[in-house]
Amino acid sequence: MRRFLIDTDTASDDAVALIMALRAPEVNVEALTITAGNVPLDRCVQNALYTVELCGSSVPVHAGLAQPMFRELTTAEMVHGNDGLGDIGLDLGGRSAAEGHAVDVLVETICAAPGEIDLVTLGPLSNVGTALLRAPELAGAVKHCYVMGGTGRLPGNITPAAEFNIFVDPEAARIVFESGMPITMVGWDVSWSCAFVGPEGEARLRAIGTPYSEFTCDIQRALVEFVGRMTGAVGFDLPDPLAMAVALDPTIAETQDFYVEVVPGDGPARGQTIVDHNAISGKPANAAVVTHVPPEAFMSLLCETLR
Ligand code: RIB
Ligand code: CA
Repeated sequence: MRRFLIDTDTASDDAVALIMALRAPEVNVEALTITAGNVPLDRCVQNALYTVELCGSSVPVHAGLAQPMFRELTTAEMVHGNDGLGDIGLDLGGRSAAEGHAVDVLVETICAAPGEIDLVTLGPLSNVGTALLRAPELAGAVKHCYVMGGTGRLPGNITPAAEFNIFVDPEAARIVFESGMPITMVGWDVSWSCAFVGPEGEARLRAIGTPYSEFTCDIQRALVEFVGRMTGAVGFDLPDPLAMAVALDPTIAETQDFYVEVVPGDGPARGQTIVDHNAISGKPANAAVVTHVPPEAFMSLLCETLR
């Protein structure tokens, strides 16, 4: 069995990634740690609890940081809806998170099992950055860290330079990328090109006919409207499920090791992941950057976990 710890700002794509991990027979999900991001923290917590209940799982859900480490929170209701799961009227209230702060759970769980736990991050890196400041040894204790964040090649999705997860808390992301933690970076570039679900893909998902496949499609309503408004494309992109697919089966990803520098601060490059494609900086690679995932490999893995 593989052991996963998943950090998430649970919204319409995160929830699908959670289902993939919770229903993968070869994975034991140790805990979910929640960070604010797509929507405020309490909604991310409730969305995670709803998804865990849908899967009949008893995995503990721990609330973490309600805002980035050193700045105000930026949310994305315009993308995922006010409730984060497409505003389709789901009963998303009244569930209780587990005791224990996400940062404590990250440090204690991973450091108690060095080299055994894969960390999958699906949102801003506020919890992980804080955990690393608290316990730098976390970087060496993690088996591997799969990050949905950044973009191997521009453009970004929240600014021309930056992808949302890194943009929201660039200082946290910089701590993570400079920590020495073994990272595979699944960026916005490959998400858009390798994990976009159009009408045919949605029909394929809905044909699976399970509560998981129906939920997966139904909660994308706000995202479909946003994608249509912003790009004219018909469908929805699934960055977090792509990162989870790579975590579940790293062999589907083409990667190259590069030095990646995260831009902190408040300028136009805030949150940019500068990928040193030509090794000009002379700095050692700190991430395996995913450059391609065959779309069919992603879709078939996704379909498998939704059956
Ligand atoms: O930029 C895409 C990422 O930002 C995804 O993780 C999405 O859920 C949002 O958190
Ligand atoms: Ca996310």
